[in-house]
Amino acid sequence: MIRPILIHPDPRLKKLADPVADVTDEIRALASDMLETMYDAPGIGLAAPQIGISRRVIVMDAVKDKADPPRPMVLINPEIVWSSEELSVYEEGCLSIPEQYADVERPAEVRVRWITPEGGAAEEHFTGLWATCVQHEIDHLNGKLFIDYLKPLKRQMITRRMEKLKRERARA
Ligand code: NI
Repeated sequence: MIRPILIHPDPRLKKLADPVADVTDEIRALASDMLETMYDAPGIGLAAPQIGISRRVIVMDAVKDKADPPRPMVLINPEIVWSSEELSVYEEGCLSIPEQYADVERPAEVRVRWITPEGGAAEEHFTGLWATCVQHEIDHLNGKLFIDYLKPLKRQMITRRMEKLKRERARA
């Protein structure tokens, strides 16, 4: 089921999300809805708070080449266990901040540990776009958006655009 995506500014996007204590069918259904919503958008990552669910669940698929097979990933209670000192800059966007993009600098590589939908432990070393995406999505679980890395003026400009977009959508 495709779920509506919250648009910034929204207090639900600023909250610290709760860890998942048990991987239940409800969590698996949530993850499956999130993947469907992400692919439909379309986007390369989505965090549960973006659909108004304050749980530590993210989904992503940062396969760039459409000729390559998709790689849908579900990460429950993801945790960054190591970050590289080397940084990289990517132009980021966010499904909760449509059509706004800005350069963000983050560690170029990260090692992340999480729980799978089957309830097992997993760990992986991410590089490139995957590393940026997983950090961006984990930020969502901590109530942080990519625009929080920008200078206040730029952030305020984007926020005002989003307020206007929300007014227009409410009227439509
Ligand atoms: Ni986002």
